[in-house]
Amino acid sequence: MDKKEDKGSRGMSAKSAKKYNIAVIPGDGTGPEVVAEGIKALNTASAKFGFNLDYHYFDFGGERYLKTGETLPDSAIDEFRKFDAMFLGAIGHPDVKPGILETGILLKIRFALDQYINLRPVRLYPNVETPLKDKGPEHIDFVVIRENTGGIYTGHGGATRVGTPDEIATQLMIYDRRTVDRCLKYAFELKKKRNAMNPKYAEKPITLVHKRNVLTHAGDLWYRAFEEMGSKFYPELRRDYNHVDAANMWFVKNPEWFDVVVTENLFGDIITDLGAMIQGGLGVASGGNINPEGISMFEPMGGSAPKYRGQGVINPMAAIGAAMMMLDTLGEAKASQAVETSMIEVMRKMKSQAAGKMGYSTAEVGDLTAKYVSEIKE
Ligand code: IPM
Ligand code: MN
Repeated sequence: MDKKEDKGSRGMSAKSAKKYNIAVIPGDGTGPEVVAEGIKALNTASAKFGFNLDYHYFDFGGERYLKTGETLPDSAIDEFRKFDAMFLGAIGHPDVKPGILETGILLKIRFALDQYINLRPVRLYPNVETPLKDKGPEHIDFVVIRENTGGIYTGHGGATRVGTPDEIATQLMIYDRRTVDRCLKYAFELKKKRNAMNPKYAEKPITLVHKRNVLTHAGDLWYRAFEEMGSKFYPELRRDYNHVDAANMWFVKNPEWFDVVVTENLFGDIITDLGAMIQGGLGVASGGNINPEGISMFEPMGGSAPKYRGQGVINPMAAIGAAMMMLDTLGEAKASQAVETSMIEVMRKMKSQAAGKMGYSTAEVGDLTAKYVSEIKE
């Protein structure tokens, strides 16, 4: 993935080590276990690369909701604004009706902090098994930019005549040009950086995914905005377009065609789960909810996995990957790179990325990754 310049070495007094304040929400199920392993890697990296991380823990999640009836108070959002970044484990509890924690915590944070980019690297690392026949790390290495605040997720719509045979329900895909443009800009800029980073990426297009053959209003807005921005500001970048159903097909058949994929919220939700599977499963898929001008939140994609809770069998690699992405966004590129290199080394030794089959416990994977970070040559 793309590495920012190391801000830590620029414009700062050499005497004072940089400090970042991190809000941590371990959350439900296996969330706390995997977050703990991510923190091990963060602590080792910060000690080695000369910056400080200060953690503040928040207990939002299903347990707290069941005890207090509270999901996430508005005051928490104001507090989050004071941090440099956020690290989330997982939200989801078997005793809580679906939707309450998702909208009350996760989506509330995304919307309130305007984390309008969902950044999902889909990269198959060496020795990680993919269900795709005859595909390896050289074929699966792209990034999905999912618009993260608009579309159907805005909750516009309603229901009438509920419970009768004439019931009507609507859920609207809302987009305005500004929301589309800021997402596209992020995607084009990322594509530019990736092309400069690796000639293999430069051979590939930036791909817009939508369904403009049917969604003739919303799809047309995205398509025109993509074409206009691309031709006007990024004429050197080759553009491609896929309908979302076809994109699903190509993710499976020809994942090597993709580099930067940009799409709206719901389509992004769906294709990134497919992305997670082809990169080796939820144990290794990490994501960032990014506000490029504000506070971003990083999370493993796996969810709370209640059946594995407390057994030390869950794979923390996705959480370590989320920590790695967080370091990159904070501007600690070298530290981020060191964590990624160490993850790759550990994954080479693991038997599998599936829970309970790793050949290591959750803590052992975290310890080993941290050990490699400490040993890495700068
Ligand atoms: C994701 C999740 C969330 C989403 C849910 C939990 C609300 O599936 O981050 O992809 O739909 O965005
Ligand atoms: Mn999802």
